[in-house]
Amino acid sequence: MSASQTSAALPEKVSVAITVNGERRQADVLPWTVLLDFLRDHLGLTGTKKGCDHGQCGACTVIVDGKRINSCMSFTVMKDGASVTTIEGLASGGMLHPLQQAFIDHDVFQCGYCTPGQICSGVALIQEGRATSRDEIRELMSGNLCRCGAYTNIVDAVEQVLGSKGEAGR
Ligand code: FES
Ligand code: FES
Repeated sequence: MSASQTSAALPEKVSVAITVNGERRQADVLPWTVLLDFLRDHLGLTGTKKGCDHGQCGACTVIVDGKRINSCMSFTVMKDGASVTTIEGLASGGMLHPLQQAFIDHDVFQCGYCTPGQICSGVALIQEGRATSRDEIRELMSGNLCRCGAYTNIVDAVEQVLGSKGEAGR
């Protein structure tokens, strides 16, 4: 194959504009760049973790337009114009998000690798307002795997924040 044939076969980059943690970010990305790699490699937001890279562990969970998604399974070009919140965007004004604080209060961390995804998932779950019991918290967080087995403490933390919003214990 000649050099000109090779370069002709290269795909065009696509321009995207995505609001990440309240800041509009513009970039040219290859069509197959997934949101996880865009956040980590293009924007340097490495708080979001890559675990399985196949939509099975939840380590890469971020909040897009209010919904939690596995960022490893989402093409960046499909999120053009969207608003994304990562673990780096949850604290504000020098204050941790209540769920971040609850994770500390309940000593949720072991290795901590799953933690950013767990927290983003928990924040969106609380916003969804669907969980009203520990069993429902477990069920609705079941897409987030923790190899260290910190599940009980994770549920404690989510329940604490739900309770402070008057939605737990029903
Ligand atoms: S890295 Fe995305 S679900 Fe595991
Ligand atoms: S704290 Fe280690 S994977 Fe969850």
